[in-house]
Amino acid sequence: MTHATFRVHVDPDKCQGHNRCYSVSPDLFELDDLGMSSEIGTGLVPPGLVSLAKLAVENCPEHAISITEATEATEATGVTEVTGVTETAEVRP
Ligand code: F3S
Repeated sequence: MTHATFRVHVDPDKCQGHNRCYSVSPDLFELDDLGMSSEIGTGLVPPGLVSLAKLAVENCPEHAISITEATEATEATGVTEVTGVTETAEVRP
């Protein structure tokens, strides 16, 4: 089974510390001692916070935040591929 997931990322070269991202969604962004933002952890956005993540992207005046969609497997695939030649045995009475 697969589902769409989103990740946010703050470009540290573009961030100027406007903190709008943190105001919009403190669950997705954290600030350092100088007020510069970065995504929390891997930037993975929980399904319920996707709209806030997009709002943060739209509200950053430096366009420092990007959001990417990725499809990830939620379960081990466990696919067993079977290849081979089917042999037919003739049985004659
Ligand atoms: Fe930086 Fe933009 Fe947030 S400038 S602190 S990423 S609103």
